[in-house]
Amino acid sequence: MSGHGDAQPMISAKCGPLTGEAAVPGDKSISHRALLFGAMAVGETRITGLLEGQDVLDTARAMRAFGATVTQTGPGAWSVHGVGVGGFREPEDVIDCGNSGTGVRLIMGSMATTAMTATFTGDASLRKRPMGRVTDPLALFGAQAYGRKGGRLPMTVVGAANPVPVRYALPVASAQVKSAVLLAGLNAPGETVVIEREPTRDHSERMLLGFGAELTVEKGREGHVITLKGQPELRPQSVAVPRDPSSAAFPTCAALIVEGSDITVPGVSQNLTRNGLYLTLVEMGARIDFLNPREEGGEPVADLRVRFSDAMQGIEVPPERAPSMIDEYPILSVVAAFSHGKTVMRGVRELRVKESDRIDAMARGLEACGVRIEEDEDTLVVYGMGPGGVPGGATCATHLDHRIAMSFLVAGMAARAEIAVDDASPIVTSFPIFEGLMNGLGAAIRRG
Ligand code: S3P
Repeated sequence: MSGHGDAQPMISAKCGPLTGEAAVPGDKSISHRALLFGAMAVGETRITGLLEGQDVLDTARAMRAFGATVTQTGPGAWSVHGVGVGGFREPEDVIDCGNSGTGVRLIMGSMATTAMTATFTGDASLRKRPMGRVTDPLALFGAQAYGRKGGRLPMTVVGAANPVPVRYALPVASAQVKSAVLLAGLNAPGETVVIEREPTRDHSERMLLGFGAELTVEKGREGHVITLKGQPELRPQSVAVPRDPSSAAFPTCAALIVEGSDITVPGVSQNLTRNGLYLTLVEMGARIDFLNPREEGGEPVADLRVRFSDAMQGIEVPPERAPSMIDEYPILSVVAAFSHGKTVMRGVRELRVKESDRIDAMARGLEACGVRIEEDEDTLVVYGMGPGGVPGGATCATHLDHRIAMSFLVAGMAARAEIAVDDASPIVTSFPIFEGLMNGLGAAIRRG
């Protein structure tokens, strides 16, 4: 869906202790990939725990447009009859990826080495985001892309009729770009190699192996060297999608800042490419116990017991940690505001090209709530005011960004005066049950 409906203002008031269990929905990154790889396998892939957020539903619709049969068989249960690597058919109409950068970039990769033309668009947020980071490496395979100025959507991609394999060193730490190249490499002959200096989320690599592709990862001086053998026959799988650690971040951080809270957050990924926020919170002095470590859906997970933590101290977050917590800086900056001392987040320029410019959105909103902020192109500094110290009493702009909306609603749960957001409608992209889940724990979030 390329246009959101009406803006949905929401208000969050200071609340009593949070208690109970916060069972968050399935992982967004893994859900997109399960649909994509399922569509490129031969036969039926069954998925359980799929995130039924708008971003993922848009990817499901896109896979149908490329010829796969995608059906919901129950809550979170989906069946994908794939058409095989190279088996996509040309879509009859424009592919609308809504709000989802992951959706559009991965789908572009998956069709770029097949002889067909597809046109992509998205909502006002997605149409501002750079696609050159994906179309540059796709051009090396022989694909062509024609978009708006600055490589913006709408964009038409002409897939390569005779693709060649590529060797590509990622210029930015981006799992989306890495995955787009790997997906394109699937239908190129020979070996496609992607080199990443800093490790980013590795769900595509794990899933490719699960679907039977030949893929190796070597750690060398240049970083991770990922080699994929092209034109495999992907075997359909049963995929159990684990819960999303990026969604789990919201109840976790809420419990840390709301006085008296004690909650459980089950099944939080401990995958080293995703758990940077949790390491950071522990370093700040958060009271989090990691219980029952185990594997779920091929990911290491633990149940978190999270308690109100009145002694959290700001820290310098190591810049090399950014890829493993890239979506969690907005909510970390809220926790930082309720901590003691200053929190320095460096090496975060990628936040400027997410669903919104997240450095700017958090800086302006926190300032409106009475928090002192410093920023430059690549840095965000938050001066903590201690538990209960944030004045609040502002309306914050969310810029079509689900994580900005949820971050300020969490801030309102512990600020002295209510915090409103101008538009909470984008929350459906990743965490459709956010309002009910948070209010079930004890939050006081209402529609404005
Ligand atoms: C994602 C990768 C990240 C992240 C996004 C999901 C993915 O983007 O911000 O929400 O599923 O590959 P980048 O890889 O571009 O940093």
